[in-house]
Amino acid sequence: MGLYSFFVENIDYYITGVKYTLLLSVVAVVLGFILGAVFALMRLSSIKVLSWIAAVYIEFLRGTPLLVQLLIIHYGLSIYGINFPPLVSGSIALFINSSAYLAEVFRAGIQGVDRGQMEAARSLGMTKGMATRHIILPQAIKAVLPAIGNEFIVIIKESSIVSIIGVMEIMYNAEVLRGSLFEPMKPLLIAAIIYFIMTFSLSKLLGVFERKLKTSD
Ligand code: ARG
Repeated sequence: MGLYSFFVENIDYYITGVKYTLLLSVVAVVLGFILGAVFALMRLSSIKVLSWIAAVYIEFLRGTPLLVQLLIIHYGLSIYGINFPPLVSGSIALFINSSAYLAEVFRAGIQGVDRGQMEAARSLGMTKGMATRHIILPQAIKAVLPAIGNEFIVIIKESSIVSIIGVMEIMYNAEVLRGSLFEPMKPLLIAAIIYFIMTFSLSKLLGVFERKLKTSD
């Protein structure tokens, strides 16, 4: 059987997989975005404890494997009686992991906004909080949009790791087909092609979007 007919014959598995992969990725990046913004602001705060807590959070999550984080959340927490369904554990692991990377993206974005912007806002009578919210953050977010799109691409690929706890995303379904049909190559090759189509088209789309943002400056 050819690759294409194998795909058509088992398309339901891949459709389910794509749905879960997209769901996981969107949840991870949206929640990661919010949590990441909070940690970026904490990290830049002049209140030392907040900044320190944020630094520990960010460094720890970026310095340990996502696989370990996932297993701690899904299996480790059970000793405290916390048992999430696989989809929930997978989403939590991905969005927490992503929040640490996005926090650093935001930090760079905020620090990249010209200092004069804060000074100008303050001289107009805004408080530091107002200036941050209305002047600094909008500019910072615009500057980091391409990097957030990039994070989405990374998470689409990284989400494959949650297959090991039984979330029915693309990789899980490929493994089901591989094991049940004794096909060592085709299911994986098709999974690879699907991931590639998703990430490649997304990166092209982001390129167009990025050029639009540039010309609007
Ligand atoms: N594979 C990496 C790890 O095991 C995960 C990297 C996640 N990267 C990201 N931008 N969220 O730690």
